[in-house]
Amino acid sequence: MTDSQGGAATSPMELYEKLTAQGEEVRGLKTAKAEKAEVEAAVQMLLKLKVDYKQTTGQDYKAGCPPSENAAVTDNGTAAGGVGAGGDDTVDPWNVSTTNAKGVDYDKLIVRFGSSKIDKELVDRVEKVSGQKPHRFLRRGKFFSHRDMNQVLDAYEKQKSFYLYTGRGPSSEAMHVGHLIPFIFTKWLQDVFDIPLVIQLTDDEKYLWKDLSLEDCHRFAVENAKDIIACGFDVNKTFIFSDLEYMGASSDFYRNVVKVQKHVTFNQVKGIFGFTDSDCIGKISFPAIQAAPSFSNSFPQIFGGRKDIQCLIPCAIDQDPYFRMTRDVAPRIGYPKPALLHSTFFPALQGAQTKMSASDANSSIFLTDTPKQIKNKINKHAFSGGKDTVEEHRKHGGNADVDVSFMYLTFFLEDDEQLEKIRQDYTSGNLLTGELKKLLIETLQPIITQHQERRKQVTDETVKQFMTPRPLNFKI
Ligand code: TYM
Repeated sequence: MTDSQGGAATSPMELYEKLTAQGEEVRGLKTAKAEKAEVEAAVQMLLKLKVDYKQTTGQDYKAGCPPSENAAVTDNGTAAGGVGAGGDDTVDPWNVSTTNAKGVDYDKLIVRFGSSKIDKELVDRVEKVSGQKPHRFLRRGKFFSHRDMNQVLDAYEKQKSFYLYTGRGPSSEAMHVGHLIPFIFTKWLQDVFDIPLVIQLTDDEKYLWKDLSLEDCHRFAVENAKDIIACGFDVNKTFIFSDLEYMGASSDFYRNVVKVQKHVTFNQVKGIFGFTDSDCIGKISFPAIQAAPSFSNSFPQIFGGRKDIQCLIPCAIDQDPYFRMTRDVAPRIGYPKPALLHSTFFPALQGAQTKMSASDANSSIFLTDTPKQIKNKINKHAFSGGKDTVEEHRKHGGNADVDVSFMYLTFFLEDDEQLEKIRQDYTSGNLLTGELKKLLIETLQPIITQHQERRKQVTDETVKQFMTPRPLNFKI
């Protein structure tokens, strides 16, 4: 079965939503005592959708019981496809882990989350519509999964614009290289499509989840904003906001938070996020705050109160649970569903079994690290796919698939041919682990140093400009 875009199969969640809507349609027609033929046609459609649903999910449709593949909820509210569910891999907003040295099985994740693969056809389409060579993250499958990207491109081709939304949870002063991935890609999208961008800094989230004061979380938000601005975003097209500031300043934003809160039950968030009865109520209602920026009328200063402007969210796939929930709620509160582009994880230095994470300093290269620290961390901690001795390595070659230095190069080395040559040389044993690490160090050091130089240019005044609610360059 293909979806309305002629792309991947309709997801179980989308089928479920169609079925629910069709059920309401039938009830509505019966209540209104509509023509018999009209009621029968609607019932036939309902039955057909039920058959499709059974074929796709292997389950019978049950009203009020979304399908398990799509992080939804079972009757008793337990996680099904939600936090920690299924397979060997755990992927949720707080944990990423797998037993596989090559990293998370992203193809399985697509099936489990009910998203669609970014295939060659879609990459070619982005190239055609944007008129630009696809970013290396697209060429190399770093952004590997999406929801409704074809719909965004269809509309864009018809001169209907969209906006970007991404974010950061400011849990510490320094961000790490993994955090750069969605921001580097978002900047590229902003440039090639010439569209507005909103960036949410969830200082409230970090206060609720971590043992930090409100003041520290807000201070980290402002510090992190400097790193984000240093990625090169255009001040005329970018609004960065802290939840602690903007929630109080914008009644439109808060109205959307409340609308989402009204349409999601405790049972549902338990299923999606794994919350328990002893979690504070702030955590339980937080997902509505991360959902609200997906709706354009949360930003009347930018979109003039329009609620129909499509939102596209680039992020790593760990954030998807928030947006599965958002997409489920959107049609019920009269808004378009946000589209998504998901990235893979930039791995920890110790190996792709887990993502680079700020909570483990040794697993991370921070944007504040000096060239010497970068060199030492890579030489000391970067997991190697090389053999134990030079002789063995020359004879059997290394394994680039599990080698962290090679993985990092696939994110940061621009030249495709050079990357392929490195892979071949390493695999054949021509290139030794030390030489590969040196190549990575020489690639990463200037990138981080240049980032630090750009960050130094970001003054308090610049931050204030980006963080002031104001109109952006956007024709309403
Ligand atoms: P946070 O601060 O955990 O992460 C910020 C962004 O970085 C991505 N990310 C990574 N990407 C690749 N490799 C990694 N190792 C890695 N670690 C983190 C995250 O997926 C995210 O895109 N709740 C969110 C903040 C937020 C948000 C959003 C994020 C609010 N609204 C909308 C994305 C989109 C958080 O704590 O992100």
